Amino acid sequence: MTKSKKEEFKETLKQEQSLCKPYQSIKAKTHNVHVLSWHPLIAHKITEMRKKETDSSTFRKLTEEVTTLICCEAMQHLETEEYIIETPICRTVGKRIAGKKLVAVPIMRAGMGMEDAVKMVVPKSRTGHIGLYRDEETLEPHEYFCKLPKGAEERQIFVLDPMLATGGSADAAITLLKKRGCTKISFMCIIAAPQGIDRLQINHPDVELWIGCQDKGLNENGYIVPGLGDAGDRIFGTK
Ligand code: PRP
Ligand code: URA
Repeated sequence: MTKSKKEEFKETLKQEQSLCKPYQSIKAKTHNVHVLSWHPLIAHKITEMRKKETDSSTFRKLTEEVTTLICCEAMQHLETEEYIIETPICRTVGKRIAGKKLVAVPIMRAGMGMEDAVKMVVPKSRTGHIGLYRDEETLEPHEYFCKLPKGAEERQIFVLDPMLATGGSADAAITLLKKRGCTKISFMCIIAAPQGIDRLQINHPDVELWIGCQDKGLNENGYIVPGLGDAGDRIFGTK
């Protein structure tokens, strides 16, 4: 007898859960946590990214598309100002982004896959870079590079990293930015584990989190389940 689709779905989800290390999430999300998988385009494109057969160039393109969609939500509070323009029909009052230029700060390497999407939607934005890699044994982040644009401390910053796993890398990047005087910080990622969300909520409750999809948890190796594997390797084709 063939299994019904419903049974098959149930079994798949149970199997997925069994791969996660036990973890008790604090669960209570603050108003600063925004999970965007309710959006059909985001859900569809993240599912494509997860598939192991998705090749590197498609993966990179999807990373940019999802980032663009996340930007629409994450940038809804940007300051605007009105000014007069002329359409082919008449003069009218339009709007433009106002205030100091925002700064995108990708966490290298994988965060760089999100960088062009921000530049596309806000061409005048500035870009800083923070280089961190996660030790494969200890899962602790190690800083190897930091270059921020002038006046970053007065600007709205969007930290970019497709993956929020233990939260160690994002925590370290945000701490570094705060040490350099930055106060207006948001974080954007494509997939987050509950552990990473909890860590940022506890250590940086002032930082808005814009998340494409929240996954089940982490496996024994610190990879997000079901996740999409190593985002850096998939973006840059290094494996
Ligand atoms: C990945 C990812 C994050 C980090 C997430 O980077 O892009 O920066 O791991 O894990 P965490 O939340 O447990 O810190 P990785 O260190 O693999 O470097 P890469 O971007 O150069 O591949
Ligand atoms: N970094 C990744 O690229 N993927 C994960 O699942 C966890 C950390």
